[in-house]
Amino acid sequence: MNTSLSLSDIARRLDVEASDVWQVHDDALEMKRRGEEVILLSIGDPDFRTPEPIIDNAVSHMRVGRTHYSPALGELDLRRAVADLETRTSPHPCSPDEVAILPGATSAIHVVMSCLLNPGNEIIIVDPMYVGYPAIMRAVDADVVRVRSRSDNGFEPVLEDLQAAVTANTKVVFMNTPGNPTGTIIGRKRLGAMARYCYDHNIWLVCDEVYSMFTFEKPHISIRAASQHLDNIVMIDGLSKSHAMSGWRMGWIVAPPTLIRHVGNFSAMSLFGSPQFIQDAAAFALNNDEYYVREMCAEYKKRRDFVCEQFSNMPGIRYHRPAAGMFVMLDVTEINPDDTAFARDLLTRQKMSVVPGSGFGESTRGHVRFSLTQPLEVLREGCERLGRYVRENYRV
Ligand SMILES: Cc1ncc(COP(=O)(O)O)c(C=O)c1O
Repeated sequence: MNTSLSLSDIARRLDVEASDVWQVHDDALEMKRRGEEVILLSIGDPDFRTPEPIIDNAVSHMRVGRTHYSPALGELDLRRAVADLETRTSPHPCSPDEVAILPGATSAIHVVMSCLLNPGNEIIIVDPMYVGYPAIMRAVDADVVRVRSRSDNGFEPVLEDLQAAVTANTKVVFMNTPGNPTGTIIGRKRLGAMARYCYDHNIWLVCDEVYSMFTFEKPHISIRAASQHLDNIVMIDGLSKSHAMSGWRMGWIVAPPTLIRHVGNFSAMSLFGSPQFIQDAAAFALNNDEYYVREMCAEYKKRRDFVCEQFSNMPGIRYHRPAAGMFVMLDVTEINPDDTAFARDLLTRQKMSVVPGSGFGESTRGHVRFSLTQPLEVLREGCERLGRYVRENYRV
């Protein structure tokens, strides 16, 4: 490209090298393309098909002409379906005025952060964090303050640590429950206390809850359910995980109507609405989903129980049993404290890919993320390969 033509600061901030951490996944995909028998356990996309009735619903809406522009904040029927879900799962009644529809949680987080943060403002985020967050924070040019969690505390953030990180420049605290990669559910008391603290200090509390429907023993507690006041509370969720609809791009924001108005302005300027037939099918999904969601959740639980049982027989491996979500974190420090080297070597020798934990932050350095998004027989083979690798490489 002609080097005298200039680019914006945001374009430059986003133009960073893909980290080493994802190289393992990319290499595994390349090996698979070459025909090698690679097991991909580095994926965060559900392996289930989108339930057939949801597909049928979208197609029938396409056929009757629901293929045009829609309001920037989303179709009223879908906003109502989300509001009804929120009303059912928290003591606060929710109205469609508090809901905005966006194409995926990623877009929802970006829009929210764009409406809340100026360059140089501080945002506090619990570490480890989902790998999609840093690019969004770079885009809005926020200063990210990571607050570490600890495996011996089940990766739940410690309230005092979060509070100690707050400064006069803190505008947002950002949480993710149930968490990716750890599957940790933040308890009601902790969420409620943090919400209260943020309310008292004029700080927004934003919570990403995209794994809310995949909890195994304890129910999910939403930030809205745990908070007494909602004036500073923003909740983000979507259908990518819960309904195996990642490619449909469907997410939403639940927030005070005053903020939703600004979200609408941002969305009108940048997205100009989501496809009508996708919103129709999403509303149908939310109103008719119980059976499918329960079935997928039960399958993830079966997979989690199976692999944890296998891990408990592997010397040198410690596992964190997730309370929710689609991943299990394995502590591999006794075999190789360099998690990226561990993952690379595992791919070379056993042809299976996992994600190095350092990609999510310092709190999971020395870990790798083992994905549950493969059928049980693939997971069984993955556990066998991992077991072989561990036996060959663990020295007591
Ligand atoms: C915690 C978390 N938030 C958001 C996303 C992205 O969700 P969406 O597909 O709705 O953009 C993911 C995807 O892996 C995730 O793990």
